[in-house]
Amino acid sequence: MTLTLSFPESAPEAPALVLFAAEGGALTPAAAEADRATGGQLGRAMKAAAFTGRKGAMVELLAPAGLAAERVLLLGLGEAGKADARVFEELGGKIAEHLQLKASGAVADLSRLSGLGLPLAEAAAHLALGAALRDWRHDRWRTTLKEHEKPKLARLAVAGAPGAEAAFAPLAKVMEGVFLTRRLVTEPANVIYPETFVEQVIAAASPLGLAVTILDEAEMTRLGFGALLGVAQGSARPPRLLALEWNGTGDANAVPLLLVGKGVTFDTGGISIKPAAGMEDMKWDMGGAAAVAGAMVALAGRRAKARVVGVCALVENMPDGKAQRPGDVVTTHSGQTVEVINTDAEGRLVLSDAMWWAQARWKPDVMLDMATLTGAIIISLGHEYAGMFANDDGLAAQLEAAGEASGDRLWRMPLGEAGGAYDKLIESQIADMKNVGPREGGSITAAQFLQRFVAEGVKWAHLDIAGTVWKAKAGATHDKGATGFGVRLVDRFVAATREA
Ligand code: BES
Ligand code: MN
Ligand code: ZN
Repeated sequence: MTLTLSFPESAPEAPALVLFAAEGGALTPAAAEADRATGGQLGRAMKAAAFTGRKGAMVELLAPAGLAAERVLLLGLGEAGKADARVFEELGGKIAEHLQLKASGAVADLSRLSGLGLPLAEAAAHLALGAALRDWRHDRWRTTLKEHEKPKLARLAVAGAPGAEAAFAPLAKVMEGVFLTRRLVTEPANVIYPETFVEQVIAAASPLGLAVTILDEAEMTRLGFGALLGVAQGSARPPRLLALEWNGTGDANAVPLLLVGKGVTFDTGGISIKPAAGMEDMKWDMGGAAAVAGAMVALAGRRAKARVVGVCALVENMPDGKAQRPGDVVTTHSGQTVEVINTDAEGRLVLSDAMWWAQARWKPDVMLDMATLTGAIIISLGHEYAGMFANDDGLAAQLEAAGEASGDRLWRMPLGEAGGAYDKLIESQIADMKNVGPREGGSITAAQFLQRFVAEGVKWAHLDIAGTVWKAKAGATHDKGATGFGVRLVDRFVAATREA
């Protein structure tokens, strides 16, 4: 069920009425009105629940006297002056989480709310965004949900914030991008494989005016994509490279931002096969490519005034009689050769050819790659931050800021120079490099590998998103499962650095 959002001037009647109070328990004008209408019931409930307006705290009043609503939710804003976009997204998320199975409609009343850390229209828009993001789920394959397990929440009106509808318009487009990413990540590998990934993304991208380029196996063979094709050769599913281009600058020669995503639609490990336990998670080893696709749809959807190219490198990594073997040497599109020590370190192989080809073709000033590249980054950072490796301090700072603004947070990791101690760890006896280093520093050596495929002068950051694409637990603005990590990050990064 998709949540229908609206932004009326005054609050319509709805089964659930959502109101707010600031730290210290100060009711907003709308909440004070409801307290009067209920003969002080709301105030008594606050007291009984020891509710002080702490950020995210909630009191629920059922069947309130004197009001048409079946329930009233009173949410804590925390210190009003500190309530920013992210706080309102989290509050929206709380509303959706609480009401998804309980109410068919809700109205959040922000009327005459003042003293916030952002304009009221923005607050309302981000509240709606947070609710819709938290509400999203993928029930396509669930045929036996009981009535009480089915999502019920169909409508959310965010009332009393003039201008909210306009403020929400670009956010709605970004949200569509997040939803596309989540859907691609959630669907299993018998549904999403290179060809169907391309089909699904084109269906979303073409109506928005994104230019599409597809390379098939024959074309990639001609171009000498030995690393990508080496990974793909064990699979019955042919690989694809999908490039999407958006130019909202009006200048056909504007220097683009390049995004490259790892799109391993299933990663068995290949001949270096993974253990059975948890292997099903490797359906989301295309989360980087899905984030690139979602970000492109978001940027084109909101008509971003920037030129951005998104490349999805799509393969399936399978063991087979035709699969590549440990020890095989492949020649990349760049001409550099790689000894494939471990066929499970496939993401860097796939990215190396895609990055090199895309840089030559589009001559970007900045390149960002997103990849579920290493289990080691999960050991380092857990699931709260993605790892960022950057060859430029300014770029790293911009990305960090975009991460904080969007909630897709990044933690910078070290990157060594060519020929330095980290880089030496991937020297090979027989070829220019090998595709794995020792166990220690596994995320760093993966980044060192990629760095060898960054063209001269390109500012580059590699985001290892293995820990953030998929979560076992629900968060403020996502249910458990696919998060859509990366889409909002790129949206904020583009807005701050290329549209300002
Ligand atoms: N797709 C995996 C990384 C991964 C692991 C993502 C767990 C999400 C959760 C990647 O292709 C991989 O297998 N990496 C190996 C590298 C190793 C062989 C050097 C890893 O991390 O174990
Ligand atoms: Mn792997
Ligand atoms: Zn992988």
